[in-house]
Amino acid sequence: MTEQDFLKTLQNYGQHHIVEHYRALTPHQRDVFLEANRDLDVPLVMRLHRQFCQPGDTRPSSAGISPPRVVSLPRSTREHDDALRARSVGESLLQRQKVAALVVAGGQGSRLGFEGPKGTFPLSPVKEKTLFQLFAEQVRCLSARFGVTIPFLIMTSGDNHVDTVRFFQRNRYFGLTPDSVYFFSQGVLPAVSPDGRLILRDKVHFYTSPNGHGGSLKALSDSGLLARLMAAGYEELFYCQVDNPLVRIADPVFLGHHSLEGAQVSTKVVRRRGVDEKVGVYLVVNGRQAVIEYSDLDETNMKALDENGGILYWAGNTAIHIFSLSFIRDLNSDGFALPYHCARKSAYVVSSDWEPASVDVWKFETFVFDAIPLAQRACCMEVAREEEFAPVKNKEGPDSPDTARQALIDLHRSWLEKAGIKVPPHAKVEISPLFALSPEDVVERLRNRRVVISSEIYIE
Ligand code: UTP
Repeated sequence: MTEQDFLKTLQNYGQHHIVEHYRALTPHQRDVFLEANRDLDVPLVMRLHRQFCQPGDTRPSSAGISPPRVVSLPRSTREHDDALRARSVGESLLQRQKVAALVVAGGQGSRLGFEGPKGTFPLSPVKEKTLFQLFAEQVRCLSARFGVTIPFLIMTSGDNHVDTVRFFQRNRYFGLTPDSVYFFSQGVLPAVSPDGRLILRDKVHFYTSPNGHGGSLKALSDSGLLARLMAAGYEELFYCQVDNPLVRIADPVFLGHHSLEGAQVSTKVVRRRGVDEKVGVYLVVNGRQAVIEYSDLDETNMKALDENGGILYWAGNTAIHIFSLSFIRDLNSDGFALPYHCARKSAYVVSSDWEPASVDVWKFETFVFDAIPLAQRACCMEVAREEEFAPVKNKEGPDSPDTARQALIDLHRSWLEKAGIKVPPHAKVEISPLFALSPEDVVERLRNRRVVISSEIYIE
């Protein structure tokens, strides 16, 4: 976009304060300003601001909501057989090199308050491996097991891209081949004041924010990565968030159910802990499967109970998905299909007299789970929370490093116990992903091995 076009756009949208500001800059500052900002989608933000100014409750009405069909945890013989069949289909997808894995790590991690990208947080109980290392080792183990390359994709944001790439370089990609690891940055959008004015962060930059985890589906396409993966014959993308150390990357059973159901998108869910748990809820809304954020679901539905006194809408979103690559392509075929949400927050920016000040801002973002109702077929699979879901969100208390670490210890202790090994009550236990990805692996691999029992047990 030329300087003239850019200024005209700003003018057309009533951003005269920015145009005046621009005209007062030095020639060098103008160049920097244009370079930094001219690709920002100002028209989109202006449309979104207008849309969110309209009063109205966008929450779905109770009448249109019902529980979804869920592939439940296997209990009966038939369900166990189904899981075995799914596993073999998933393994075949892996073997035929059809699967890539994505970790979204572009968030700001403000609740954790950790200096640096969240994926570089040391989390494992004995070796203090970082979240990134735990994921990379799983990908390495799976790739070796199936004799294939599983592309490992990491979505960053402008704020943490360089630090994330350097972290992998410094750690030699945790044993992965560097050219199988792909970093790509998500998009950003300028934020606006409640009255729709673009905000400056400093003299030459707008105040922007990442466009949400849904931006991964857009950035995959915009970056050309999606086309490259498809051209190389990949078909399915395993998706997870950077904050869940229990995630089973590219779980064959999950891949298998996704494939057997002919789904374009699949989601793992856990039973909600209680009616107040702050977790998105997987539902059917007006005939389409969907996840509704806890803050967007009205209290009656949030607290609804079934005839046995259990939570009626029990399926909590883990943010573990599989997306068919062709579906991601379709979502980008006519602009980007995901709807935007508006987060009203306060932010620290420079004021008109260039003093730092706290102001109200509206930020616009997309949620990856909004792709679910857009799919022709979606699959939802229940997993056990203690086996697969322990997100690190907060500095302390629930969903913190302490709870996630304890969840890893409890999980790995249970794996050892399945192999007949007794672990003292307070011992820390950690099993390397390079050694085992499941209790079955542990049973198999410890058959002829002695484990030294102490207060810290690490198995690799
Ligand atoms: P959260 O919603 O927990 O946000 O992100 P966050 O930014 O990590 O943490 P807070 O809210 O500031 O404390 C869930 C997942 O989505 C990714 C995060 O990195 C995390 O893996 N995410 C979130 C993105 O990749 N981009 C975004 O714009 C937002």
